[in-house]
Amino acid sequence: MSKRLLTGLQPSGNLHLGNYFGALKPFVDLYGDYDSHLMVVDYHALTTIKDATVLRSNIVDVVKDYLAAGVDPNKVILFKQSDVPEHTELAWIFECLVSVSFLELAHAYKDKLAKGLEANAGLFNYPMLMAADILLYDTDVVPVGKDQQQHVEYAREAANKFNLAYGETFVEPKEMILEGVGVVPGTDGAKMSKSYKNTIPLFGSKDEIAKAVMGIVTDSSGERPENVYAIHKLFKSDDELASLYEANKGSYKILKEALIEDIETLIAPMRDRRADITDDAVRDILRAGAEKARARAGAKMEEVRRKVGVTI
Ligand code: ADP
Ligand code: TRP
Repeated sequence: MSKRLLTGLQPSGNLHLGNYFGALKPFVDLYGDYDSHLMVVDYHALTTIKDATVLRSNIVDVVKDYLAAGVDPNKVILFKQSDVPEHTELAWIFECLVSVSFLELAHAYKDKLAKGLEANAGLFNYPMLMAADILLYDTDVVPVGKDQQQHVEYAREAANKFNLAYGETFVEPKEMILEGVGVVPGTDGAKMSKSYKNTIPLFGSKDEIAKAVMGIVTDSSGERPENVYAIHKLFKSDDELASLYEANKGSYKILKEALIEDIETLIAPMRDRRADITDDAVRDILRAGAEKARARAGAKMEEVRRKVGVTI
């Protein structure tokens, strides 16, 4: 029997090249070797997104993004968290097993407080909903970025606490840190991130990509525009780039134009594929996925309800 893999996607809006090389591509390369589950975590997103129109369109967008990047919905259970109410149900049970002081140590919550912001109770409980996401499916491996490692540890702890209290029930999952290509730099040389406004859009039009690339910060002190080169390396080998950069020393505009073409070669087919996916197709895929996910989650929850004593 193949091992079970599960990961969750935040429906957080426009993806950039950093997301592609750091998360989408490694997932696409990996999921076919497992019994895989890919879930849009819309209830997690509710801790931050308070606009229904935005949330709705982000959910549809993230599904289209993954399909366009190469996920085959016939080879993975692709579903939306809110379609499987067992997730929030199990989260409650875990919340009754872990302590407040344990949850206070979670990074996402601590970071919010450190910024002087008020955290809602949903954010505080976030790790237990994520634990439920993972543990409901007897997940063996959880592919995530490094920033999510602690959350997978929390899931192990929840499994452990439950198993100790009620007997062996949950598999302790392991994180699989997606190495991707390391940190993809943005147009200013810092880590590409939507928070830094230094992104190159993944599914932008050619004009939008060109505008972002033309905006890559260059200084005239060296011969090679390092910020351009660092992004270009994602598309071509050092050998291929050596002759291009040698022949065009100091001609930053030509080098940026070459980069635009290389990005376009990768993106254009995915962008075309994405444009052909209708919202209705996304709804159908999520509906079919939810049915399969509910069959698995429902069976697991029956066992859990029996063990905790609410089934009479
Ligand atoms: P952002 O920093 O833009 O807010 P997210 O935190 O939403 O990005 O990241 C979503 C996923 O994309 C994570 O798995 C993260 O590791 C990956 N990712 C984001 N930015 C980069 C980057 N610059 N290089 C590599 N991976 C990245
Ligand atoms: N917290 C994860 C993130 O922000 C998303 C997530 C929710 C998740 N549930 C999950 C990831 C379950 C892996 C498995 O990226």
